[in-house]
Amino acid sequence: CGIVGCILKNNKNAAPVLLDCISKLEYRGYDSIGIATVSDGINIKKDKGKIKEVDSKLDLADMPGHYGIAHVRWATHGDPNKINAHPHTDETESVAVVHNGIIENYLDIKSQLEEEGHVFKSDTDTEVIPHLIQKYMDKGFDLEDALRETIGIIHGAYAIAAISKNEPGKIIATRKDSPLIVGIGEDGYYLASDSPAILEYARDIIYPEKGELVIIDENEVIVKDEFDNVVEKEIETIDWTPEMAEKEGYDYFMIKEINEQATAVRNTLTEKSTIQEIIDDLGDISRICFVACGTSFHASITGKYLLESIAGIPTDVILASEFKYSANTLNEDTLVIFISQSGETADSLKALDLANKTSKTLGIVNVAGSAITRRADYVIQTQAGPEIGVAATKTYVSQLTAIYLFAALIADDEKLLEDVYKVPDFIEELLKEVDSIKAMSKKYKFARDFFFIGRGYSYPIALEGALKLKEITYIHGEGYAAGELKHGPLALIDEGIPVVVILPPGENHRKTMSNLEEVKARGADILAVGSKEDERLKLKSDDLFAINDDVNEIIAPLVYIVPLQLLAYYVAVEKGLDPDKPKNLAKCVTVE
Ligand code: G6P
Repeated sequence: CGIVGCILKNNKNAAPVLLDCISKLEYRGYDSIGIATVSDGINIKKDKGKIKEVDSKLDLADMPGHYGIAHVRWATHGDPNKINAHPHTDETESVAVVHNGIIENYLDIKSQLEEEGHVFKSDTDTEVIPHLIQKYMDKGFDLEDALRETIGIIHGAYAIAAISKNEPGKIIATRKDSPLIVGIGEDGYYLASDSPAILEYARDIIYPEKGELVIIDENEVIVKDEFDNVVEKEIETIDWTPEMAEKEGYDYFMIKEINEQATAVRNTLTEKSTIQEIIDDLGDISRICFVACGTSFHASITGKYLLESIAGIPTDVILASEFKYSANTLNEDTLVIFISQSGETADSLKALDLANKTSKTLGIVNVAGSAITRRADYVIQTQAGPEIGVAATKTYVSQLTAIYLFAALIADDEKLLEDVYKVPDFIEELLKEVDSIKAMSKKYKFARDFFFIGRGYSYPIALEGALKLKEITYIHGEGYAAGELKHGPLALIDEGIPVVVILPPGENHRKTMSNLEEVKARGADILAVGSKEDERLKLKSDDLFAINDDVNEIIAPLVYIVPLQLLAYYVAVEKGLDPDKPKNLAKCVTVE
């Protein structure tokens, strides 16, 4: 989910700004949208569906009032319907609330409140919040203290913004384990789950900590700690520009972001000296653990292969949601590296808190100021710029770039460094050949299943290629280590099943070629990604995407993934799907 809020000066109308800001957060959820403003009373417009659909029905910008709150939902508790859409209110509609996160004890609170006579409308966990606030306001508390009481009762993760018609001109917000930033702009003050929402209006940002209360009115922003003391907050300026979060003529963010990958790699390469400083400061490391989810997990697998084979450091890769079972094995000589584009993934944050107890921690994160950057001992910021498409592309190659720099510097591997610096040119070169992928996507769009195989460094490419396809085309895709195929999945290969074979030049080439033969013998359609000079592959494959021969198998993860991203993208477009907003998924998952 995503939340925003704003209070505008000089009585400017807030609804159009709220609509604009919340539209920029649609990548965080698109099950429903809702806005609340305050004029004489609280006005609410909300419904199920994507913002454009709901806006054409309800004209969301047409609401009076100079301040308000808004929400996009990624459903956790309760179906994605109008009643469950935020903002939620108490029965008298005097308090309205938007919330990102999960209230774990909401059932207990709800039954207690029901016993006290409260009547609930929705199935959401959130609805207990406005009821609790109103309960305390009825007892004489002001909005600020009523929210303070409320967060003493609720357990879980939350970023909350609340307004009350009985206390006009004010928004009170707070957070714990869900992101929330405060923007200070010329025309007013803003709240948001993430910076792209407000870049156009404010780039001076305050980052509230867990348990702090933010009180905003037309004239000022005050932050207080849990004991009601005013906290002096640092104001940080973000260097992302509003244009970076626009489509700039592309049909979708995803294709824009795929095309920005050479630049993302180039910009991330500028982190080399920061990475060297981190390495110098770290001293001796006897073991490394990567912890991540989704695409970032695939970048981590590449990290393991690199660090073990090039630097000889024992390295594990652990899914953040499964991390607690390994936490006992960590010690002070272990470096735990958290890879995350958003820096806010709840599973990763939970694991980071555990790792911080015993070990040194390093975050490789794209969003400056995000929770991981605040909690890890060391931070490398990938320089991909804002990524809006839900399926990670340019943040993935940027994470890989940071990992390659880290491994090459730790191992003092000059040759690898030289090769990595050539990557942006290789990406630019292959992006010119996009037409051949478009043709393949027409041919393969009707496939029901897809297999992706690769060995060594190409194994995580296979996993990531399959994930991209699944996420945005809804075609079943599986990535396998090419050598594992014969231990099970081969049973699924049949006449006409597409198998994507990742075959860069290098020591694994011969063996993967044999695996290609195995699936071909069983009737598979071979879609290969390999070297331009690979004559044998040309003969053996049904379709070939050919890449510069200088891309060896060690740096292949940075380059060979691009045609697979393009394949997923064009298949999705061919199928009439929106690649930026795959169903049921969100870019930033702030619940465990
Ligand atoms: C979500 C996104 C994925 C992402 C994963 C991990 O599921 O849809 O694209 O890979 O979270 O996110 P992170 O921000 O931690 O990299």
